[in-house]
Amino acid sequence: MEMAFTVLLLLQLISSLFLAPIFVFAQTDGKVAVGASLSATAGNNSSWLSPSGDFAFGFQKLENNDLFLLSIWFAKIPDRTIVWYANGDRPAPKGSIVNLTANSGLVLTSPQGEQLWKSDQTVAGVVAHGVMNDTGNFVLEDDKSENLWETFKNPTDTMLPGQIIERGGKLFSRQSETNYARGRFELDFQEDGNLVFSAKKPFYSTATTTGTVPGSEGKQLVFNDSGNFYILRVNGGRFTFTADERPARDYYLRSTLNFDGVLAQYFLPKSPFVGNASWKPLWSEPDNICQKVNSGTGVCGTNSICTLNADQRPTCECPRGYSLLDPNDPYGSCNPDFRQGCEDLYDVQVLANTDWLTPGYELLKDSTADKCNKSCFQDCLCDVAIYSNETCWKKKLPLSYGREDSSFNAKTFIKFRKDNSTPPCPSSYNGAA
Ligand SMILES: *[C@@H]1O[C@H](CO)[C@@H](O)[C@H](O)[C@H]1NC(C)=O
Ligand SMILES: *[C@@H]1O[C@H](CO)[C@@H](O)[C@H](O)[C@H]1NC(C)=O
Ligand SMILES: *[C@@H]1O[C@H](CO)[C@@H](O)[C@H](O)[C@H]1NC(C)=O
Ligand SMILES: *[C@@H]1O[C@H](CO)[C@@H](O)[C@H](O)[C@H]1NC(C)=O
Ligand SMILES: *[C@@H]1O[C@H](CO)[C@@H](O)[C@H](O)[C@H]1NC(C)=O
Ligand SMILES: *[C@@H]1O[C@H](CO)[C@@H](O)[C@H](O)[C@H]1NC(C)=O
Ligand SMILES: *[C@@H]1O[C@H](CO)[C@@H](O)[C@H](O)[C@H]1NC(C)=O
Ligand SMILES: *[C@@H]1O[C@H](CO)[C@@H](O)[C@H](O)[C@H]1NC(C)=O
Repeated sequence: MEMAFTVLLLLQLISSLFLAPIFVFAQTDGKVAVGASLSATAGNNSSWLSPSGDFAFGFQKLENNDLFLLSIWFAKIPDRTIVWYANGDRPAPKGSIVNLTANSGLVLTSPQGEQLWKSDQTVAGVVAHGVMNDTGNFVLEDDKSENLWETFKNPTDTMLPGQIIERGGKLFSRQSETNYARGRFELDFQEDGNLVFSAKKPFYSTATTTGTVPGSEGKQLVFNDSGNFYILRVNGGRFTFTADERPARDYYLRSTLNFDGVLAQYFLPKSPFVGNASWKPLWSEPDNICQKVNSGTGVCGTNSICTLNADQRPTCECPRGYSLLDPNDPYGSCNPDFRQGCEDLYDVQVLANTDWLTPGYELLKDSTADKCNKSCFQDCLCDVAIYSNETCWKKKLPLSYGREDSSFNAKTFIKFRKDNSTPPCPSSYNGAA
């Protein structure tokens, strides 16, 4: 008995000795002093934790490359789901540093000293400290604890309980599950109180505008601590997405505008802790995105077919005889296999400042003249590529209303058939697709 007690005491002593540093580290008040910094270093997960340890702010290494995303994530669950990020279009190279400064807030600098991003304060003032709050909100406060900037007011693709979006606020989808560059979809809480989903053009809305009932227009998009996600109307009424409740006390919760345009609320029980548990959707909108989106290239790329899964998320599939243009982008365009190998058949002529009114079937942002030419050259659907202002438009025959104009400031790559080449098969450019 006494022996067991002593052993128990010893065990407690040992474990407290071991736990002490972790305990001290985790039980901070979430405050971060001005002058503090984090660096993007592989194998060193440096981050600032919230008091409960539920959320962390810092760098997460991206898959398959040496780039890091300055972000906030769920820190206690294995997949460390990212809920906010800075500079998704241009992740930070290894060795980048984020500093908390008094006059500029958070400043992200590359190893070469280039400023990559900073928190743009809307409220002027001197930062006294940062706080990684238990709600998942990273807040910059002045010496009177007034909020000068917060991630909750600068959302990316996700909302958390306790977060409110005022009119004019937006969420943007990322490009794919693992690519945080801005994607095709946008959730726009318009000035008229309507919540609109769009892919270049609107394709779904909650219709919370001024209706027959006075004050029925939306005032705020709210995600409250009871787990209710709704639009609060001017007259106090609510547009709700679900009646089902999951309190933030018992569940990890998030509402995310997914890269495929589906807005969904997810939950994950906090306990019992299951190591391999994954997020489950509580609801999602719209109910059939394959049918709703008919602007831009749609949910899927050109020639691809959208099917709705049981979870109301879309899958894109190439028809038989077609393959993905980019094997790493299952939601991208499909290329007919019978036109593959076209590289051997064509040459490229360069024209200056020439364009056609025919709309492009694909647009590549952040392009270069070389990339633009190459992309068209390798794409058997492409007949001409127009490069201007870091953008590449790929167009196909028939091309109408061709014009040359020096104000286009463009470089034009047009493909032509090499003399000695034989046609690949009977269906060339007047064939299918
Ligand atoms: C960093 O975090 C990842 C993911 O949780 C983990 O697998 C890895 O062991 C961590 N590395 C260090 C050095 O803590
Ligand atoms: C990890 O971070 C610690 C503390 O900031 C630092 O002393 C150490 O050099 C870092 N390790 C690497 C591999 O960068
Ligand atoms: C950022 O922090 C690093 C490391 O503490 C420091 O060397 C650097 O001078 C700081 N830069 C700024 C702009 O404060
Ligand atoms: C910080 O979190 C607490 C709950 O932990 C919440 O009541 C408070 O509103 C949060 N503050 C901010 C600025 O998000
Ligand atoms: C959240 O909203 C629901 C109504 O949609 C309300 O019943 C509940 O009391 C709210 N919870 C909190 C914590 O404000
Ligand atoms: C999680 O792990 C448990 C126990 O190892 C297993 O029974 C269960 O099937 C796993 N669940 C998933 C979704 O992988
Ligand atoms: C266009 O790209 C092709 C394939 O990479 C190359 O052979 C050709 O020389 C390029 N033409 C120009 C003008 O850059
Ligand atoms: C070039 O593209 C950028 C971003 O897409 C745009 O803001 C700018 O107006 C464009 N410039 C011209 C001259 O078209």
